[in-house]
Amino acid sequence: MATTNLRKRHLKDPQIRVRPSGQACGAEVTGVDLSAALDASQSAEIRGAWLEHHVLSFPDQDMTDDDLERFTGCFGGFGHDPFFDPIPGRQHIAAIKREADEKSPLFAENWHSDWSFQKHPPAGTCLLGITIPPTGGDTLFANQHAALDAMPPDMRAKYEELTAIHSAQMAYAPDGAYGDKDVERSMAIRPDESARETQLHPLVRTHPETGQPGLFSCMGYIIGFEGVDQQDALPLLTELYAWQSQDEFVYRHKWQPNMLVMWDNRSVLHCATGGYEGHDRLLHRTTIAAHGVS
Ligand code: SIN
Repeated sequence: MATTNLRKRHLKDPQIRVRPSGQACGAEVTGVDLSAALDASQSAEIRGAWLEHHVLSFPDQDMTDDDLERFTGCFGGFGHDPFFDPIPGRQHIAAIKREADEKSPLFAENWHSDWSFQKHPPAGTCLLGITIPPTGGDTLFANQHAALDAMPPDMRAKYEELTAIHSAQMAYAPDGAYGDKDVERSMAIRPDESARETQLHPLVRTHPETGQPGLFSCMGYIIGFEGVDQQDALPLLTELYAWQSQDEFVYRHKWQPNMLVMWDNRSVLHCATGGYEGHDRLLHRTTIAAHGVS
C-alpha cells in the first residue's frame, strides 16, 4: 500500500529538476506545478536552489494571481511596494506593463536591487510572464557575490567599509525619472515626495541566509556614501556601477509566456531591456519581504 501511494505521488508530482544556466547565476526549475500548493519539501528544495543560483525560472506554469500570491507566501511575507498602484482587486501584485505603441522610456532599464532604499528591502521578487513579446524584453541579472569576489584587493579595500546612502528620489520623486513629467506611461507608477527619504546600508553585506558577502545595490538607488563628499562619491559610484555590471557577472534571462521567475535581491542586481517595439509586454510582480520581516 505504501509503495502504491509513493508511486502515485511520484506520478502526480515528478521530481524537481534544477538546471543551471551556465552563466554567472540563474537556473531553470522543472518538475513542479506552481498552480498547486507546494508541500514543505518542495518549498525547501526551491528555497535551497534559489539561495544557490539567485535567480530561478519556472517555464510552462499555468498560474493565476492567486497562485502567484500563494507561491510568494511560501518564501516569506509580502514586501511593501511603494510608488506603484497594485492591479485591481489585489494588494500585493503590480503590473510591469508596456503597450505596443508606448513612447515613454523603458521602465527599470538600469541596474538596481528592488526597493534597496527601504529599511528592510525585499529579500526577493517574483515576476510572472503573461504577455511576452516575440523578441527582446530580456531581463539581465548581475551576480553581486561574484562581483565582490573578483574585485582586486585595492579596489575592494576602497569599497569594503563604505556605508551607502539609498534613496528613491531619482526615480520616484515628483521631479524624478518616473515623476510628474512622465505622463505617457501605461504602468501605474505613483511618484511621491516620500521618495526623498534616505536609508543607510553597508555597501558590502553578508547574505542573511547563506552568509556569503556581496555588494548590495548600486548607483541609482545609492545616491552617496556616509561621510564622503558628493564630489568624491560620484566617481566612486560610477566606477562601482561599471564593475558590478560586467558581462562576466551577468545572466541574460529570456522570457516565455507562463514563466515565473524569482530572484534574490540580496545577491543580484537586475535590469530590464528593450527591443520589442510594436509589441505589448505584461508581467505580474510580487515581492518577498526581508528574511524574518513580515
Ligand atoms: C523590474 O525591474 O522589476 C522589471 C524587469 C523587467 O521588466 O524585465
